[in-house]
Amino acid sequence: MKVIRADYAGACYGVQRALDLAMQAALEPGTACTLGPLIHNPGVVARLEERGVSVADEVADIACDTVVIRSHGVTPEVRDELYEKGVNVVDATCPHVLRAQQAAAKLASDGCRVLVVGEDGHPEVEGLCAYARRQGAKVDVVSSPEDVPDDMHAPIGIVVQTTQRREKLDAVVDEIKKKGIEPIVKSTICYATTQRQDAARALAGEVDAVVVIGGRNSSNTTRLAEICSASCPKTFHIESTDELDKSWFDGCLTIGVTAGASTPEEQISEVVLTLERM
Ligand code: F3S
Repeated sequence: MKVIRADYAGACYGVQRALDLAMQAALEPGTACTLGPLIHNPGVVARLEERGVSVADEVADIACDTVVIRSHGVTPEVRDELYEKGVNVVDATCPHVLRAQQAAAKLASDGCRVLVVGEDGHPEVEGLCAYARRQGAKVDVVSSPEDVPDDMHAPIGIVVQTTQRREKLDAVVDEIKKKGIEPIVKSTICYATTQRQDAARALAGEVDAVVVIGGRNSSNTTRLAEICSASCPKTFHIESTDELDKSWFDGCLTIGVTAGASTPEEQISEVVLTLERM
């Protein structure tokens, strides 16, 4: 069997940076934790725990010296609470997310009603909304053009969750323009997700089976699996090498491998090696 890896797969810059910062925190004197699981990958969270980096779900639960803010970022209120608590803060907020937070705050301080294009309830989106609200703006989360409110007046500012696709932003902008409003658009999309999706789609069209590696609770990995299944029915979403089953690949000559943005390189290499040995 020939194993082909997608051109773009696995940990993005922001996740890799967060992992490196958390590993570094584990080596420093004192105890460390992350505020929420660092990434949607149970294997990685377990490995961090082994090295002494626990998970605190809320600021109130933090009982260690150092806390790592994950790549999604936090609301300004949570950031204030952390500083008031007096813990060391290691800020692993992805720089792309920081840029989106600043854009949301700037649109709000310029007097715009702010529309956040993204997934309602996602921690990054909650952070973007909070940065805009803190400047006194009315804020709406819009996950599709149908969510665009009817009662809108200029100025409208738009900021986008970093992992959204460009097409969704364009559809929302078009909807607002239909109402005769020209919104101010801050395109804060990070193309790491789009690159992984496009590469997975291309690969799935060329191979007999695809293995998608990443946490089952990782929405970007699940999305990759959906994309691959659409053109390659033999698509298997796994979290670790142990789940691989030789019988899945009966009659297959080529196997594609891709991984979500929260899957570290070691996990991908391990799966590739195991498949090559089958
Ligand atoms: Fe950052 Fe983009 Fe990854 S926003 S966390 S580099 S998907």
